[in-house]
Amino acid sequence: MGLYAIGDLHLHYQSPLKSKRQLTEKVWKNHEEKFRSICARKLAPDDTLVLVGDHSWGRNMSECEDDLRYIEELPGRKILTRGNHDMFWDAGKTEQLNELFAGRLRFLQNSYDSYRDYALVATKGHCFEGPFYLDARGRIIGWDEEAEEKSKKLVERELQRLRLSFEAARAAGYRKYIVFLHYPPTSILEEGSGFTEMAEDYGAEQLIYAHCHGERRFHDSIEGERNGVLYRLVSGDYLKWQPVKLLD
Ligand SMILES: [Fe+2]
Ligand SMILES: [Fe+2]
Repeated sequence: MGLYAIGDLHLHYQSPLKSKRQLTEKVWKNHEEKFRSICARKLAPDDTLVLVGDHSWGRNMSECEDDLRYIEELPGRKILTRGNHDMFWDAGKTEQLNELFAGRLRFLQNSYDSYRDYALVATKGHCFEGPFYLDARGRIIGWDEEAEEKSKKLVERELQRLRLSFEAARAAGYRKYIVFLHYPPTSILEEGSGFTEMAEDYGAEQLIYAHCHGERRFHDSIEGERNGVLYRLVSGDYLKWQPVKLLD
């Protein structure tokens, strides 16, 4: 029995592909088949796989049905969290999704699920991604402050959602936590954030995130252990489609 995570499958069985990277980079070539066969070898029926957002390029449910079926057919229990590209998933309609896919897929938002005595708490998260202004040597010399203000509001909303998840889990008696965000916990300008503080305050053991694609983005945020929290990037192209084992 194991708990595994990976993010950013970016499936597109029924929708137009919206990323050039998926057409040109080797790691994305036949990634659906690669991932399916890795899961078939690596995962057992009693394992749990958390998919950390950006499941599908589909713009609505009718463009996602085959993508969600692909996920459903992977081995083990599947828990999905929201990414910035998951247009099919309205945060306020999460329970409808859970009813529709009852016993097949679990959509986790503003809530928690469990694995052994751990609570799995999840929200999309957010971090400021620019636009940044660079000098001739590529160093950041400024950024769009209006965009930064908007981003701060999204961060606040996501922090509230994460706190709700932690509190619901704590009220149910959980004292061990793993946090799942889609966005990295910090922007490239930050050393820490409300997300890292909250993870530390509740004593979370791990904070898992995805969203970063391509060599140049893989080290945008915190990696490894810091103040008792283990930070791990699990975007699929970073992991070359090998899900990471978080717990036995
Ligand atoms: Fe992504
Ligand atoms: Fe993303």
